[in-house]
Amino acid sequence: MSKIALTPLTGSCGAELSGVDLAHLSDEDFAQIHQAWLDYGAVFIRDQDIELETLVAFGKRFGNLEVHPIVDGLSDAPEITRVLKPAGESASFGTGWHSDNTFFEKPSMGSVLYGKTIPPYGGDTLFANQYRAYETLSDGLKHTLDGMMAVHSASHAYTVAGTQEKYDKKTAITYTWSDSIMDEVIHPVVRTHPETGRKALFVNDMFTLRFDGMSKEDSQPLLQYLFHHCVKPDFCCRFRWSENAVALWDNRAVQHYATDDYQAFERLMYRVTIEGDKPA
Ligand code: SIN
Repeated sequence: MSKIALTPLTGSCGAELSGVDLAHLSDEDFAQIHQAWLDYGAVFIRDQDIELETLVAFGKRFGNLEVHPIVDGLSDAPEITRVLKPAGESASFGTGWHSDNTFFEKPSMGSVLYGKTIPPYGGDTLFANQYRAYETLSDGLKHTLDGMMAVHSASHAYTVAGTQEKYDKKTAITYTWSDSIMDEVIHPVVRTHPETGRKALFVNDMFTLRFDGMSKEDSQPLLQYLFHHCVKPDFCCRFRWSENAVALWDNRAVQHYATDDYQAFERLMYRVTIEGDKPA
């Protein structure tokens, strides 16, 4: 009998799992977590006092881990990103709705975030179900979007005001310039999830620049409509962190947003990101 219990967070996405010990995870436990991840888009597991090696090992059960081409990883473990906001600074990593690394030819499949220093309040992470975003469109718009492609790039998000000091290594999170920042990749606006077979909207405000074959100006009205629609409160859940909580999300099915509402407090997380495949 499995000891894992599942509590949905909302009617749209997100579930908390209890009875999990990530440091001693059987294949049966992993299979249950994996299924919950597919079913709920984001799963949350509290009270995991683990070494970073365990975080890496857990991520690797899903697939190969990415080393980010721009965001610096730990010097001795480049696949781990330290997401640190010292007290007194504004949060600036992941603050904006997005799915991770859609500017890659093969956008990230999933991400695992481990909370170590948690503000007494604030710093929640929001998730939005992109199956529901697609399914709630009118048949006419679904039909139009089904045939469309969109251009994604890091060129905006990684060059906006405030990023230069990250390249200058003056901040807690640091970046290294890569010419790939200016690259553009093309993905379907609606992707079919390779494991669930469900269709999901696949555009996001952080990395989607325009529709393929259209100018930025021509694309804006419909893209802006979709960016707002994608993250309607009806599709969302909100995770309130606690020390040693782990969040795991499926970038093929949800977008996420790191809130910036805890300026007086430090927040420290560690993230590993799992390689994905080319969206179909
Ligand atoms: C991210 O991975 O986008 C950051 C999420 C967070 O810090 O809550």
